[in-house]
Amino acid sequence: MTQTALKPRRSALYMPGSNARALEKARSLDVDCVIFDLEDAVAPDQKAPARQAIIDALSAGGYGDRELIIRTNGLDTPYVDDDLKAVVAARPHGVLLPKVNTPGDLQRLAHKLAALDAPRDLKVWAMMETPLAILNAQAIAACGRDPEVRLSCLVLGTNDIAKETRAALKPGRAVMLPWLMTCVAAARAGGVDILDGVYNAFQDMDGFAEECVQGADMGMDGKTLIHPKQIEPCHKAFSPSEEEVAWARKINDLFALPENADKGAIQVDGKMVERLHADMGLRVIAIADAIAARATEA
Ligand code: COA
Ligand code: MG
Repeated sequence: MTQTALKPRRSALYMPGSNARALEKARSLDVDCVIFDLEDAVAPDQKAPARQAIIDALSAGGYGDRELIIRTNGLDTPYVDDDLKAVVAARPHGVLLPKVNTPGDLQRLAHKLAALDAPRDLKVWAMMETPLAILNAQAIAACGRDPEVRLSCLVLGTNDIAKETRAALKPGRAVMLPWLMTCVAAARAGGVDILDGVYNAFQDMDGFAEECVQGADMGMDGKTLIHPKQIEPCHKAFSPSEEEVAWARKINDLFALPENADKGAIQVDGKMVERLHADMGLRVIAIADAIAARATEA
Protein backbone atom coordinates (compact mmCIF):
# COMPACT_ATOMS: atom_id res chain seq x y z
CA MET A 1 0.00 0.00 0.00
CA THR A 2 1.34 3.42 -0.93
CA GLN A 3 1.90 5.65 2.07
CA THR A 4 0.65 9.17 1.49
CA ALA A 5 1.25 12.02 3.91
CA LEU A 6 -2.29 13.30 3.57
CA LYS A 7 -5.37 11.13 3.86
CA PRO A 8 -8.34 12.69 2.10
CA ARG A 9 -11.46 13.01 4.24
CA ARG A 10 -13.74 14.39 1.54
CA SER A 11 -16.68 12.17 2.40
CA ALA A 12 -17.82 10.43 5.59
CA LEU A 13 -20.96 8.30 5.18
CA TYR A 14 -23.05 7.63 8.26
CA MET A 15 -24.82 4.33 8.53
CA PRO A 16 -26.93 2.93 11.35
CA GLY A 17 -25.01 0.13 13.07
CA SER A 18 -28.32 -1.74 13.12
CA ASN A 19 -28.61 -1.76 9.29
CA ALA A 20 -26.90 -4.94 8.07
CA ARG A 21 -27.48 -4.08 4.41
CA ALA A 22 -25.74 -0.68 4.81
CA LEU A 23 -22.77 -2.24 6.64
CA GLU A 24 -22.36 -4.70 3.77
CA LYS A 25 -22.83 -2.05 1.08
CA ALA A 26 -20.13 0.21 2.56
CA ARG A 27 -17.48 -2.30 1.46
CA SER A 28 -18.11 -1.37 -2.18
CA LEU A 29 -18.88 2.35 -1.92
CA ASP A 30 -16.25 4.84 -3.11
CA VAL A 31 -16.22 6.78 0.15
CA ASP A 32 -13.22 8.09 2.11
CA CYS A 33 -14.62 7.45 5.60
CA VAL A 34 -17.42 5.30 7.01
CA ILE A 35 -19.13 6.31 10.27
CA PHE A 36 -20.83 3.32 11.93
CA ASP A 37 -23.47 4.91 14.11
CA LEU A 38 -24.59 3.76 17.54
CA GLU A 39 -26.24 7.07 18.46
CA ASP A 40 -29.08 8.97 16.74
CA ALA A 41 -29.68 6.42 13.98
CA VAL A 42 -30.06 3.47 16.37
CA ALA A 43 -33.17 3.00 18.57
CA PRO A 44 -32.58 2.24 22.28
CA ASP A 45 -33.58 -1.44 22.01
CA GLN A 46 -31.25 -1.87 19.02
CA LYS A 47 -28.08 -0.57 20.70
CA ALA A 48 -26.79 -3.98 21.80
CA PRO A 49 -27.38 -5.81 18.48
CA ALA A 50 -25.93 -2.81 16.61
CA ARG A 51 -22.72 -3.01 18.68
CA GLN A 52 -22.37 -6.69 17.85
CA ALA A 53 -23.14 -6.12 14.16
CA ILE A 54 -20.40 -3.47 13.96
CA ILE A 55 -17.86 -5.72 15.74
CA ASP A 56 -18.73 -8.56 13.34
CA ALA A 57 -18.53 -6.33 10.25
CA LEU A 58 -15.16 -4.81 11.16
CA SER A 59 -13.74 -8.18 12.19
CA ALA A 60 -14.79 -9.66 8.85
CA GLY A 61 -13.03 -6.74 7.07
CA GLY A 62 -13.31 -5.97 3.39
CA TYR A 63 -13.39 -2.18 3.84
CA GLY A 64 -10.09 -1.61 2.00
CA ASP A 65 -8.48 1.78 2.46
CA ARG A 66 -11.57 3.48 3.91
CA GLU A 67 -11.14 5.20 7.27
CA LEU A 68 -13.50 3.46 9.69
CA ILE A 69 -15.06 5.40 12.56
CA ILE A 70 -17.58 4.33 15.20
CA ARG A 71 -19.91 6.98 16.65
CA THR A 72 -20.77 6.15 20.26
CA ASN A 73 -23.54 7.61 22.38
CA GLY A 74 -22.74 10.65 24.51
CA LEU A 75 -20.78 10.58 27.76
CA ASP A 76 -23.90 11.23 29.84
CA THR A 77 -25.90 8.30 28.46
CA PRO A 78 -26.17 4.81 29.94
CA TYR A 79 -24.80 3.37 26.67
CA VAL A 80 -21.37 4.92 26.38
CA ASP A 81 -19.32 2.41 28.39
CA ASP A 82 -20.64 -0.57 26.44
CA ASP A 83 -20.17 1.41 23.22
CA LEU A 84 -16.51 2.03 24.05
CA LYS A 85 -15.98 -1.67 24.85
CA ALA A 86 -17.39 -2.41 21.40
CA VAL A 87 -15.00 0.15 19.88
CA VAL A 88 -12.03 -1.60 21.48
CA ALA A 89 -13.29 -4.98 20.24
CA ALA A 90 -14.02 -3.75 16.70
CA ARG A 91 -10.67 -1.92 16.26
CA PRO A 92 -11.78 0.92 13.97
CA HIS A 93 -9.40 3.77 13.04
CA GLY A 94 -11.32 6.22 15.19
CA VAL A 95 -14.14 6.92 17.59
CA LEU A 96 -16.57 9.84 17.16
CA LEU A 97 -17.96 11.29 20.39
CA PRO A 98 -21.26 13.19 20.10
CA LYS A 99 -22.51 16.07 22.29
CA VAL A 100 -19.02 17.28 23.24
CA ASN A 101 -19.35 20.50 25.27
CA THR A 102 -15.87 21.17 26.66
CA PRO A 103 -12.27 19.95 26.34
CA GLY A 104 -12.92 18.20 29.67
CA ASP A 105 -15.34 15.88 27.84
CA LEU A 106 -12.53 14.77 25.53
CA GLN A 107 -10.26 14.27 28.53
CA ARG A 108 -12.96 12.09 30.14
CA LEU A 109 -13.09 10.06 26.93
CA ALA A 110 -9.29 9.74 26.92
CA HIS A 111 -9.39 8.36 30.48
CA LYS A 112 -12.08 5.85 29.59
CA LEU A 113 -10.10 4.72 26.52
CA ALA A 114 -6.93 4.37 28.60
CA ALA A 115 -8.81 2.28 31.19
CA LEU A 116 -9.94 -0.03 28.37
CA ASP A 117 -6.37 -0.31 27.00
CA ALA A 118 -7.52 1.11 23.67
CA PRO A 119 -4.75 1.16 21.04
CA ARG A 120 -2.61 4.30 21.21
CA ASP A 121 -3.24 5.06 17.55
CA LEU A 122 -7.04 5.11 17.88
CA LYS A 123 -8.07 8.57 16.70
CA VAL A 124 -10.72 10.72 18.34
CA TRP A 125 -13.28 12.71 16.40
CA ALA A 126 -15.63 15.18 18.13
CA MET A 127 -19.13 16.28 17.16
CA MET A 128 -19.61 20.05 17.29
CA GLU A 129 -23.36 20.21 17.79
CA THR A 130 -24.22 21.93 21.06
CA PRO A 131 -24.32 25.65 21.92
CA LEU A 132 -21.45 25.11 24.40
CA ALA A 133 -19.34 23.33 21.78
CA ILE A 134 -19.57 26.38 19.52
CA LEU A 135 -18.74 28.76 22.39
CA ASN A 136 -15.80 26.50 23.42
CA ALA A 137 -14.66 25.66 19.88
CA GLN A 138 -11.15 27.02 20.30
CA ALA A 139 -10.50 25.09 23.52
CA ILE A 140 -12.02 21.88 22.13
CA ALA A 141 -10.01 22.02 18.90
CA ALA A 142 -6.84 22.79 20.87
CA CYS A 143 -7.07 19.12 22.01
CA GLY A 144 -5.56 18.40 18.58
CA ARG A 145 -2.24 19.41 20.15
CA ASP A 146 -2.72 17.17 23.23
CA PRO A 147 -1.23 13.70 22.60
CA GLU A 148 -3.29 12.19 25.43
CA VAL A 149 -6.59 13.17 23.78
CA ARG A 150 -5.63 12.29 20.15
CA LEU A 151 -8.24 14.62 18.62
CA SER A 152 -8.02 14.34 14.85
CA CYS A 153 -11.25 15.74 13.40
CA LEU A 154 -14.26 17.92 14.21
CA VAL A 155 -17.66 17.02 12.73
CA LEU A 156 -20.44 19.58 12.55
CA GLY A 157 -23.83 18.37 13.68
CA THR A 158 -26.06 20.96 12.05
CA ASN A 159 -29.34 19.16 12.85
CA ASP A 160 -28.54 19.17 16.57
CA ILE A 161 -27.27 22.78 16.41
CA ALA A 162 -30.67 23.76 14.93
CA LYS A 163 -32.50 21.82 17.63
CA GLU A 164 -30.48 23.17 20.55
CA THR A 165 -30.23 26.81 19.46
CA ARG A 166 -33.59 27.07 17.61
CA ALA A 167 -31.72 28.65 14.69
CA ALA A 168 -33.27 27.76 11.34
CA LEU A 169 -31.48 25.31 9.07
CA LYS A 170 -32.42 26.67 5.63
CA PRO A 171 -30.78 26.59 2.19
CA GLY A 172 -27.68 28.80 2.30
CA ARG A 173 -27.50 28.38 6.11
CA ALA A 174 -27.16 32.17 6.50
CA VAL A 175 -27.87 32.37 10.22
CA MET A 176 -25.49 29.51 11.04
CA LEU A 177 -22.49 30.73 9.08
CA PRO A 178 -20.81 32.57 12.00
CA TRP A 179 -20.88 29.38 14.11
CA LEU A 180 -19.73 27.15 11.26
CA MET A 181 -16.84 29.47 10.36
CA THR A 182 -15.87 29.79 14.04
CA CYS A 183 -15.47 26.02 14.06
CA VAL A 184 -13.36 26.14 10.87
CA ALA A 185 -11.01 28.71 12.46
CA ALA A 186 -10.84 26.62 15.64
CA ALA A 187 -10.01 23.47 13.66
CA ARG A 188 -7.18 25.20 11.82
CA ALA A 189 -5.80 26.68 15.06
CA GLY A 190 -5.87 23.22 16.65
CA GLY A 191 -4.39 21.49 13.61
CA VAL A 192 -7.34 19.12 13.11
CA ASP A 193 -9.64 18.41 10.16
CA ILE A 194 -13.25 19.54 10.03
CA LEU A 195 -16.20 17.96 8.23
CA ASP A 196 -19.43 19.75 7.38
CA GLY A 197 -22.87 18.62 8.60
CA VAL A 198 -25.33 16.43 6.69
CA TYR A 199 -27.86 17.49 4.05
CA ASN A 200 -31.16 15.85 4.99
CA ALA A 201 -33.04 16.15 1.67
CA PHE A 202 -31.06 13.41 -0.04
CA GLN A 203 -33.32 13.41 -3.13
CA ASP A 204 -32.52 17.10 -3.78
CA MET A 205 -29.26 16.74 -5.69
CA ASP A 206 -29.05 20.41 -6.78
CA GLY A 207 -29.46 21.71 -3.24
CA PHE A 208 -26.93 19.15 -2.01
CA ALA A 209 -24.34 20.11 -4.65
CA GLU A 210 -24.70 23.79 -3.69
CA GLU A 211 -24.16 23.01 -0.03
CA CYS A 212 -21.05 20.92 -0.88
CA VAL A 213 -19.55 23.85 -2.81
CA GLN A 214 -20.39 26.15 0.11
CA GLY A 215 -18.65 23.81 2.56
CA ALA A 216 -15.56 23.55 0.35
CA ASP A 217 -15.47 27.36 -0.01
CA MET A 218 -15.68 27.66 3.78
CA GLY A 219 -12.50 25.59 4.06
CA MET A 220 -14.09 22.35 5.29
CA ASP A 221 -12.05 19.21 4.50
CA GLY A 222 -15.15 17.26 3.56
CA LYS A 223 -18.79 16.60 4.36
CA THR A 224 -20.73 14.03 6.33
CA LEU A 225 -23.26 12.13 4.22
CA ILE A 226 -26.39 10.07 4.83
CA HIS A 227 -26.96 8.33 1.50
CA PRO A 228 -24.69 6.69 -1.12
CA LYS A 229 -25.97 8.94 -3.91
CA GLN A 230 -24.40 11.90 -2.11
CA ILE A 231 -20.84 10.53 -2.47
CA GLU A 232 -20.08 11.47 -6.07
CA PRO A 233 -21.20 15.13 -5.95
CA CYS A 234 -19.44 15.47 -2.61
CA HIS A 235 -16.15 14.26 -4.08
CA LYS A 236 -16.56 16.62 -7.01
CA ALA A 237 -16.78 19.62 -4.65
CA PHE A 238 -14.03 18.55 -2.24
CA SER A 239 -11.43 17.31 -4.76
CA PRO A 240 -9.08 19.84 -6.38
CA SER A 241 -10.04 20.42 -10.03
CA GLU A 242 -7.56 19.72 -12.84
CA GLU A 243 -7.18 23.49 -13.34
CA GLU A 244 -6.37 24.04 -9.65
CA VAL A 245 -3.75 21.27 -9.71
CA ALA A 246 -2.20 22.57 -12.96
CA TRP A 247 -2.02 26.11 -11.51
CA ALA A 248 -0.47 24.83 -8.27
CA ARG A 249 2.19 22.93 -10.21
CA LYS A 250 2.86 25.88 -12.48
CA ILE A 251 3.48 28.42 -9.72
CA ASN A 252 5.62 25.98 -7.74
CA ASP A 253 7.70 25.27 -10.86
CA LEU A 254 8.12 29.02 -11.44
CA PHE A 255 9.32 29.68 -7.89
CA ALA A 256 11.79 26.81 -8.30
CA LEU A 257 13.51 28.57 -11.22
CA PRO A 258 16.95 30.07 -10.40
CA GLU A 259 15.91 33.53 -11.62
CA ASN A 260 13.07 33.57 -9.04
CA ALA A 261 15.14 32.23 -6.16
CA ASP A 262 15.37 35.60 -4.39
CA LYS A 263 11.84 36.77 -5.21
CA GLY A 264 8.92 36.82 -2.78
CA ALA A 265 6.33 37.80 -5.38
CA ILE A 266 6.16 37.23 -9.15
CA GLN A 267 3.70 37.96 -11.91
CA VAL A 268 1.96 34.95 -13.50
CA ASP A 269 -0.72 35.41 -16.20
CA GLY A 270 -1.37 38.97 -15.06
CA LYS A 271 -1.72 38.08 -11.36
CA MET A 272 0.50 38.67 -8.36
CA VAL A 273 1.63 35.35 -6.92
CA GLU A 274 3.44 35.14 -3.59
CA ARG A 275 5.28 32.25 -2.03
CA LEU A 276 2.30 31.70 0.26
CA HIS A 277 0.24 30.87 -2.85
CA ALA A 278 2.87 28.32 -3.84
CA ASP A 279 2.62 26.83 -0.33
CA MET A 280 -1.18 26.65 -0.65
CA GLY A 281 -0.59 24.94 -3.99
CA LEU A 282 1.59 22.27 -2.34
CA ARG A 283 -1.42 21.21 -0.28
CA VAL A 284 -3.60 21.05 -3.40
CA ILE A 285 -0.98 18.85 -5.08
CA ALA A 286 -0.65 16.61 -2.01
CA ILE A 287 -4.43 16.10 -1.82
CA ALA A 288 -4.67 15.40 -5.54
CA ASP A 289 -1.80 12.88 -5.31
CA ALA A 290 -3.43 11.19 -2.30
CA ILE A 291 -6.75 10.91 -4.15
CA ALA A 292 -4.98 9.48 -7.21
CA ALA A 293 -3.10 6.96 -5.03
CA ARG A 294 -6.38 5.93 -3.41
CA ALA A 295 -8.00 5.41 -6.83
CA THR A 296 -5.21 3.09 -8.00
CA GLU A 297 -5.41 1.04 -4.79
CA ALA A 298 -9.20 0.60 -5.00
N1 COA B 1 -25.08 3.68 4.06
C1 COA B 1 -24.98 2.60 3.26
N2 COA B 1 -25.93 2.22 2.40
C2 COA B 1 -27.06 2.96 2.38
C3 COA B 1 -27.22 4.10 3.19
C4 COA B 1 -26.18 4.46 4.07
N3 COA B 1 -26.27 5.53 4.89
N4 COA B 1 -28.44 4.65 2.94
C5 COA B 1 -29.00 3.90 2.00
N5 COA B 1 -28.18 2.88 1.65
C6 COA B 1 -28.41 1.84 0.64
C7 COA B 1 -29.68 1.06 0.89
O1 COA B 1 -29.39 -0.03 1.74
C8 COA B 1 -30.06 0.64 -0.50
O2 COA B 1 -29.21 -0.42 -0.89
P1 COA B 1 -29.70 -1.55 -1.93
O3 COA B 1 -30.67 -0.91 -2.86
O4 COA B 1 -28.44 -2.01 -2.61
O5 COA B 1 -30.31 -2.60 -1.06
C9 COA B 1 -29.64 1.81 -1.35
O6 COA B 1 -28.62 2.49 -0.61
C10 COA B 1 -30.75 2.78 -1.67
O7 COA B 1 -31.35 3.21 -0.47
P2 COA B 1 -32.77 3.98 -0.47
O8 COA B 1 -33.87 2.99 -0.67
O9 COA B 1 -32.70 5.13 -1.39
O10 COA B 1 -32.85 4.56 0.99
P3 COA B 1 -33.53 3.91 2.27
O11 COA B 1 -34.98 4.29 2.29
O12 COA B 1 -33.17 2.47 2.37
O13 COA B 1 -32.79 4.67 3.45
C11 COA B 1 -32.30 6.41 4.99
C12 COA B 1 -32.93 6.07 3.64
C13 COA B 1 -32.30 7.92 5.18
C14 COA B 1 -33.09 5.75 6.13
C15 COA B 1 -30.83 5.87 4.97
O14 COA B 1 -30.20 6.49 3.89
C16 COA B 1 -30.05 6.06 6.23
O15 COA B 1 -30.26 5.35 7.20
N6 COA B 1 -29.08 7.01 6.25
C17 COA B 1 -28.17 7.22 7.35
C18 COA B 1 -28.89 7.74 8.58
C19 COA B 1 -27.91 7.99 9.69
O16 COA B 1 -26.96 7.25 9.89
N7 COA B 1 -28.14 9.08 10.46
C20 COA B 1 -27.29 9.44 11.56
C21 COA B 1 -26.41 10.61 11.26
S1 COA B 1 -27.21 12.05 10.65
MG1 MG C 1 -27.23 14.10 16.57
